[in-house]
Amino acid sequence: MSADRPPVTLPQLAEMKLAAEPIVMVTAYDHPSAEVAEAAGVDLVLVGDTAAMTMLGHSSTTPVSLDEMLVLAKAVRRGVRTPLLIGDLPFGSYEGSNERAIESATRYVKEAGCDVVKLERGGLSVERARAIIRAGIPVMGHVGLTPQTATALGGFKAQGRTADSAVRIAEEAFALQAAGCFAIVFEAVPAAISEVLVSKLSVPVIGIGAGPATDGQVLVWHDLLGIYGGRQPKFVRRYAELREEMIRGVGEYAREVRERAFPAAEHTYAIEPEELEAFRRYLDQESLAASFGGDWSATEI
Ligand code: KIV
Repeated sequence: MSADRPPVTLPQLAEMKLAAEPIVMVTAYDHPSAEVAEAAGVDLVLVGDTAAMTMLGHSSTTPVSLDEMLVLAKAVRRGVRTPLLIGDLPFGSYEGSNERAIESATRYVKEAGCDVVKLERGGLSVERARAIIRAGIPVMGHVGLTPQTATALGGFKAQGRTADSAVRIAEEAFALQAAGCFAIVFEAVPAAISEVLVSKLSVPVIGIGAGPATDGQVLVWHDLLGIYGGRQPKFVRRYAELREEMIRGVGEYAREVRERAFPAAEHTYAIEPEELEAFRRYLDQESLAASFGGDWSATEI
């Protein structure tokens, strides 16, 4: 689909907001899914720290390291050409200092070939975003439910459901915009709050559980394709049931192996009869039995 599509640029995203053209974003964590995202023609691909849960089996996003994320991001880079590629700064890779934040963001760009990075929250993260942007790397913000600090937020639950909480989201979003972020993710925010803020923010807002009014939508790869067996948030719509299909496929394979129905003749390499005969003669030498031991009388090929 994307064969003749030029790579997505930041000005193009800004134009899409102005033209009310929805922006499509997905996460991806490996090369096959990156190739699928490319072929499907999405606009943005995020190597999200949700990889901690979807790929590495952790129960939250916090344990994943930058080194682990870089391995995944490099694989994704090799599969995408058109979408803008976003490296998600994992917990602990940017909060400590502006220098640390710049260093981590730079690794995403230099080592993995990411175009931009994403970080979570307002507050201190606004300063980190500003520093990274000053260092020449564009930054996407992320407010509302910020999984890296879910414990502090009282768990994985919607934010902005009281006026005070909505004010905090607004303040964080405007601060991230003022710091120079090119776009902001709103996660698990009431649709009515998104609707009001999207029209007041000049940068694109990409929603996940933030209603239909956002400038774009993002879903986690494993949720959208029904690969992940874990907790599924309310805001997910599954567009396929790949987990079921994978269990069916692997189960079928296991059954055929056990019944010796696989491999079949068409999966097997042949050898010329005279070559096989020569090999048999080699095995039948008595001297072999002496040197290798074992039961050579029953040799059957
Ligand atoms: O890490 C991630 O996958 C994300 C998305 C949910 C936006 O941050």
